[in-house]
Amino acid sequence: MMPTDRTLGVGLVGTGWVAASHVRAIQANPHVRLVRMCGRQEARAREKLTRFGADVSDVGFTRRYQDLLDESDIDIVVIATPNHLHAEQAVAAASAKKHILLEKPTGLDVRELIRIRDAVRRTKVRTIVSFVLHYNPFVRFAHWMREAGWLGTIRYARFQYLSRILNEYPGWSWVRRADSGRSHLLAAGCHAVDALRWCTGLEPTEVSAYHTRFTKGYQWPTSIVVNVKLGRRAVGQMVSSTDFMMPYTFGVELMGDRATLVDGLILWKDTPVALAALRRANPFPEVVLREARALDGSPAIRVECEMPASADARQHPFQGEVNELVDCIRAGRESHLNVFDAQKTMEVCLAADRSAARGGRPVSLPLIRP
Ligand SMILES: NC(=O)c1ccc[n+]([C@@H]2O[C@H](COP(=O)([O-])OP(=O)(O)OC[C@H]3O[C@@H](n4cnc5c(N)ncnc54)[C@H](OP(=O)(O)O)[C@@H]3O)[C@@H](O)[C@H]2O)c1
Repeated sequence: MMPTDRTLGVGLVGTGWVAASHVRAIQANPHVRLVRMCGRQEARAREKLTRFGADVSDVGFTRRYQDLLDESDIDIVVIATPNHLHAEQAVAAASAKKHILLEKPTGLDVRELIRIRDAVRRTKVRTIVSFVLHYNPFVRFAHWMREAGWLGTIRYARFQYLSRILNEYPGWSWVRRADSGRSHLLAAGCHAVDALRWCTGLEPTEVSAYHTRFTKGYQWPTSIVVNVKLGRRAVGQMVSSTDFMMPYTFGVELMGDRATLVDGLILWKDTPVALAALRRANPFPEVVLREARALDGSPAIRVECEMPASADARQHPFQGEVNELVDCIRAGRESHLNVFDAQKTMEVCLAADRSAARGGRPVSLPLIRP
């Protein structure tokens, strides 16, 4: 699609918890205007969005999703509905030539993933999938450190999404169900799968997983541990759980043949990481690097910045993803977090769920031929 410099209209479907964050981010971007939102009941939609901190007093409302797609003033559709509605709505939006900000998970099975891929390929709209941790300072720093070579060649990585989600979560009625939430990885832990892929730069080639269930109320297993072969020689793990008695934790561990990054500490064994040189190279002003000690007292470096430490969507950096999508549309280029990339994350989640359902039997990737 061609570059443009006019103000872009936005339509929003799904008027709940995360949508309020999208609304704030859209309203803070000078190149877009939220035109209309779509929900099942207007008063409830306005009340919820206001309660979650968004001002939608001047935003139009419709109950028909098709109205967003028919409106020529709308260039971008933001899809923030429950998981089982994403694929259908994304395919319809792409077919109507609307650019898309799509909440995770994108599709809940291989068929849905293929339908999204084909619709977006056909119409060439721009997409961004809401793996919002790509805009978290610490996760960005971890990605940069590996890419810039400070960790060396990755040998092992572990990413953990540990979040105790119970009935105080606004989406509890649908997320707990197998037909609409589907699985812990698809509903939540896909953030860990995505971050592992992004931060290591490696694609899982084989998956073996175990799951179990402790927390009551869910129609699906509430913890899953996933082992992956990564690229040619590395291995990795993802853990996704709602069962553990601890605050929300997003664990980041990257171990290379030069150095290791574990939950905010840079560690090494043979060749020290030079703090002064790392400070000079660090491209992120919001990331501060300090001298520190490992648990055994040996020298280390502490990374200080905003960590991925909150489950509260109101504190997540949605501004970054909205800005990137808008910049990509204006410049006529692809986003780095499009549905094609997200499909690979979803395939790992589906393969892991498949493996766990078969008692840990390995499943090869990709599931979908390119
Ligand atoms: N990227 C992230 O970090 C992040 C964080 C949180 C959530 N999410 C994702 O965002 C999506 C929404 O989650 P949420 O936490 O915002 O849940 P939520 O508060 O339940 O919001 C979903 C909204 O969709 C509406 N809805 C339900 N069924 C609908 C239907 N058939 N047609 C149209 N609207 C319908 C509901 O409105 P009514 O019931 O009022 O009609 C509800 O307000 C999920 O896919 C979730 O995975 C992503």
